[in-house]
Amino acid sequence: MTLSFEKEINKRKTFGIISHPDAGKTTLTEKLLLFGGAIQTAGAVKSNKIKKTAASDFMEIERQRGISVATSVMSFEYRDLLINLLDTPGHKDFAEDTYRTLTAVDSVILVIDSVNGVEEQTKRLTEVCRMRDTPIIVFINKMDLEGRDPFDLLDELENHLDIKVRPLSWPINRGKSFKGVYNLHSHELNLFEANKTKVSSEIVTIKDLSDGRLEEIVGETDANLLREDVELIDGVYDTLDPELYLQGKLAPVFFGSAVNNFGVKEMLDTFVDIAPTPLPRLSNVGEVDPYQEKFSGFIFKIHANLDPNHRDRIAFLRICSGKFERNKFFTHSRLGKEVRFNNPYSFLAREKNLIKEAYPGDVIGLYDTGSFKIGDTLTQGERFEFQGIPSFSPEIFREVLNTDPMKSKQLDKGVHQLTDEGVAQLFTQQPGNKKIIGTVGELQFEVIKYRLNNEYGASCDLVPRNFHKACWITTTNTKQLNEFMRLKASEVAHDKDGNPVFLAPSAWMLQMAQEKYTDLTFHLTSDFKTAIGA
Ligand code: G4P
Repeated sequence: MTLSFEKEINKRKTFGIISHPDAGKTTLTEKLLLFGGAIQTAGAVKSNKIKKTAASDFMEIERQRGISVATSVMSFEYRDLLINLLDTPGHKDFAEDTYRTLTAVDSVILVIDSVNGVEEQTKRLTEVCRMRDTPIIVFINKMDLEGRDPFDLLDELENHLDIKVRPLSWPINRGKSFKGVYNLHSHELNLFEANKTKVSSEIVTIKDLSDGRLEEIVGETDANLLREDVELIDGVYDTLDPELYLQGKLAPVFFGSAVNNFGVKEMLDTFVDIAPTPLPRLSNVGEVDPYQEKFSGFIFKIHANLDPNHRDRIAFLRICSGKFERNKFFTHSRLGKEVRFNNPYSFLAREKNLIKEAYPGDVIGLYDTGSFKIGDTLTQGERFEFQGIPSFSPEIFREVLNTDPMKSKQLDKGVHQLTDEGVAQLFTQQPGNKKIIGTVGELQFEVIKYRLNNEYGASCDLVPRNFHKACWITTTNTKQLNEFMRLKASEVAHDKDGNPVFLAPSAWMLQMAQEKYTDLTFHLTSDFKTAIGA
């Protein structure tokens, strides 16, 4: 291992921002990019939203898909580091995309709306982070609004997200009387001014809170309240142990207002200080160390070409170890095939999109003509697979019925390719090779129908099937599995990799199956680590 190789890895930090829609993820992203100099003006990332799109607004969906390739990864430099920010879709119907993207990051920033606190999508996203112990930094946003009591918000975070928190900044009042935040680490008072274009410049160092200047600046009532609050914080919350943060057990918390670019820099600076550099990744042959010389990486996202005349797609590869080089042969582990890429795509603006090499922590785009599936591993000669890119149980199921018999081949191809891309999950049911598509949101069905028609010339009906969950089945008792598969023929299927899946009609039926077939284990994710009720 050369020193420069090690240096390249150590300067990288790869993370994602997660939030319930509308908490301020896009706004915060934009401010972070401004700090990194990656964009010049506010508003550049703003269009990156599918969230308010009506389900039937296809043109809008297409437009958004175009934008989202460019903003899938935003790389910028800050304080000698190379920061890769992976975008996660805000719309809940695309949650599965977000879950997969989270397997490619080393840490996350969680944005909470101070008015709404912990919301449904916040819980689900943090659960996914907790599965892999991903380190979390919390940004409580919109302090300029009449939000909830900060102590209540911290309690809610600890209770709902099952994680310990430690505030590193503390707000002085909120809403109309929001005066700023006190940095508990550097002991600086950062005074709030509503300003959308530049960073607040009024920073006063007050080492000792008994300093009389505090009254002069924020008034007696707020000065006293701040003193009380800080005393309480120091008494109740442990000091920040970076180790516990890195283990995903303790989350530092910042308060601010993204739209006013307030409190963002403090958080970014702490992120740069404590967030992990590229971490090892688990594979079926053990942990893969990023510093290992042999190259490896996995595909976590696939994006279809918008132009129906070009079937190529962009596969997003997270590099896990070694060095990626343009035009060099690597091994497509699942297919056992040598592949090379002559125009890999980088997301760092100044490199003009084409890269020669990339390092662990980086995400690059590879042009693909259909040989990649989500979760595929690329290596340097070895045959192994990275783990932990699970499919989660879909919640809505529909059967694909061909409405144009002349186009059944196209339909078949389209359904396979779209599900390879991860747009939805495909289950095949016998007899008759029935295709059942599962998603987490209605919007995906609209996208599938539209794209099948637009890109493959195929048309179909998507007929609702009344299943509650898809549960992957594992067992060592083949006899019991066979019996189950035979008796429940209309409620079982196989996923794309041939794994048996129970399409449980209801929670109650699932429970009954568990009680009756004691040797079968039912899992709600395809990585089989978390059994139901475990
Ligand atoms: P998202 O990506 O998490 O969905 O949220 P986004 O950044 O789009 O923010 C959602 C709304 O919240 C936006 O308003 C945004 O301007 C606003 N917002 C973000 N940060 C703050 C903040 O610190 N304080 C206040 N008061 N508002 C904030 P919008 O009306 O939906 O859009 P726009 O018309 O302002 O662009």
